[in-house]
Amino acid sequence: DWTSSAFVETTIADIQATVGNDKVVLALSGGVDSSVAAVLLHKAIGTNLHCIFVDNGLLRKNEYESVLEQYKDFGLNIKGVDAKDKFLSQLAGVEDPEQKRKIIGRVFIEVFDEESHLIQDVKWLAQGTIYPDIIESVSVKGPSATIKSHHNVGGLPDFMKLKVVEPLKTLFKDEVRRVGTALGLESFILGRHPFPGPGLGIRIIGEVTAEKVAILQDADKIYIDNLKEAGLYDQVWQAGAIFLPVRSVGVMGDERTYENVIALRAVESLDGMTADWCHLPYPVLAKISNEIINKVKGINRVVYDISSKPPATIEWE
Ligand code: XMP
Repeated sequence: DWTSSAFVETTIADIQATVGNDKVVLALSGGVDSSVAAVLLHKAIGTNLHCIFVDNGLLRKNEYESVLEQYKDFGLNIKGVDAKDKFLSQLAGVEDPEQKRKIIGRVFIEVFDEESHLIQDVKWLAQGTIYPDIIESVSVKGPSATIKSHHNVGGLPDFMKLKVVEPLKTLFKDEVRRVGTALGLESFILGRHPFPGPGLGIRIIGEVTAEKVAILQDADKIYIDNLKEAGLYDQVWQAGAIFLPVRSVGVMGDERTYENVIALRAVESLDGMTADWCHLPYPVLAKISNEIINKVKGINRVVYDISSKPPATIEWE
């Protein structure tokens, strides 16, 4: 007879007893787990919780600004860190997906370490670890940009010498969502599609550049906005656009174009381990395709991914 309100109450008391008046640092990602952990800790210890939200330049369009704003509305003591250039310059020239993941994870650790250093006397590192993270590795393709999967990147960064507090570590995903609802988080975090830690970095096939990120952000926004407008967003488990570094011929007025391709992916799934491609209505796909081709400079062709997992994965990299 587990109830979310009882969990919230006892966990707040536990956190207060454990952490006392110490300062705690936590990395927010915009995802469900870290957000619920943050709001819970905030209720327990207020501004002794220091949240850090890193802009890796690989988030969805306007996501950094809007999520940061909403966290602030929740009263969180949060610092946004613009590290776009750092990530992009480290990714320059790199094409291999696993290499890109490693770089994104490493740069994240560096930025987070530097930032947590700036907080005087911080004693604890809070993480949104949930039960399935402990019993199995959730990421199927390699380490995600979470802290826990990078324990062995050489000498430990300083923040890793902190004591760890993980208030959600006994919970399954649906319980985390229920706790989030009890905390009043449904409006902005709980209904969002899963989004990988390396973000658009693994939705640009091959080398990531600022120009490709901008193109993909625009196309992805048109796609997601249209899904919402058509009332389909909540029926889809995960959706996103992918930038293909393939050029094909098109015509625009009297001119021949030779530009890149955007692939659209939308899947139904329970846990991401298997997935079926969504049978999105043709009129919706037609509208999205027209809008992307007409509005996004550099794209003259849109394709829809009709592969299920297995054998295809949800992400293309
Ligand atoms: P795949 O592509 O393996 O993805 O079918 C399954 C789910 O995992 C997400 N994913 C990741 N999440 N770091 C993450 O945090 C990663 O490196 C990563 N790779 C895939 C993917 O978005 C999907 O929800």
